[in-house]
Amino acid sequence: MKVLVTGAQGQLGQELKQLANLHPEINFNFYTKSDWDITDSKKSHSILSNSKADFIINTAAYTKVDQAEINPEICNKINFEAPKVLAAQCNELNVKFIQISSDYVFSNTKHIPLAETFPKNPKGIYAISKSMAEDSIMNTSPHNIIIRTSWLYSSFGHNFVKTMILLAKSGKEIHVVNDQIGSPTYAADLARLIVDCILSPVNKFEGIYHYSNEGMCSWFDFAAEIFNYLKIEASLKPISTQDFGALAPRPAFSQLDCSKIKNEMHCEIPNWKTSLHKCLDNLKKTF
Ligand SMILES: NC(=O)c1ccc[n+]([C@@H]2O[C@H](COP(=O)([O-])OP(=O)(O)OC[C@H]3O[C@@H](n4cnc5c(N)ncnc54)[C@H](OP(=O)(O)O)[C@@H]3O)[C@@H](O)[C@H]2O)c1
Repeated sequence: MKVLVTGAQGQLGQELKQLANLHPEINFNFYTKSDWDITDSKKSHSILSNSKADFIINTAAYTKVDQAEINPEICNKINFEAPKVLAAQCNELNVKFIQISSDYVFSNTKHIPLAETFPKNPKGIYAISKSMAEDSIMNTSPHNIIIRTSWLYSSFGHNFVKTMILLAKSGKEIHVVNDQIGSPTYAADLARLIVDCILSPVNKFEGIYHYSNEGMCSWFDFAAEIFNYLKIEASLKPISTQDFGALAPRPAFSQLDCSKIKNEMHCEIPNWKTSLHKCLDNLKKTF
């Protein structure tokens, strides 16, 4: 089996690369942004048609959510236009397309876990770009795969966990919002899930799925657990979303209901604290 991975230097891309070492039965081909800029449609077509791949996992994305409000064109180009073209090319060349999407396609305030069928209501440039990509990918072919995830972190790349540790080291007071609720997701768990799905004998792996770690918390709780596990004395203070004043809007409640993937793919999903501790153990080796 041949699998192409875009965005290989991102969090999920690097976790997939780690996992690839354990799966010699899969011929993984990893592409960083400089190897393959997904906005270059000619290059995409050339790579896809020469590779004869079975799957492409598109982890490449513009993930600077606040910057997207200032640079909407570049965000749309990477997050919407490029995946739209990739999906069409994959359809033509018979490659299964796996797109990673986001809990930001929702803007829910009710505390109800969100199933795949929950009505979308993206707010902000990043959220709208991810939602439009989903629509175009599913319109191209219902056999494509979209995995929505939330609050992704890893020992690789840039993320909330690493930012919190750096801020604590600086000794400054740390303000973290306590009125946005969701589920942190360890990118290593998501990478494993994707590989398990690709290898699964269940042949109806298609359509939209939700995957995040089990349980939920606020960003404040998430930060508190990082400091608690690492035994770091940090000056952590709760703040409201309104007072924090980020440029882009965020969903107030975005816990994903992952029943569909659990039932169809027979997978068990670790609790967010268990996975966070694993990631922190990995990070400790690099402190
Ligand atoms: N991070 C989260 O909290 C979160 C939550 C829900 C869903 N997601 C989704 O999950 C997926 C993976 O996220 P992640 O956290 O692994 O992202 P990430 O760490 O930001 O990695 C994305 C990678 O894509 C690369 N990239 C950007 N523009 C590109 C282009 N035109 N062509 C090729 N590569 C390009 C980036 O390179 P540069 O850094 O050099 O630009 C980066 O290496 C994304 O689809 C994201 O939208 C993320």
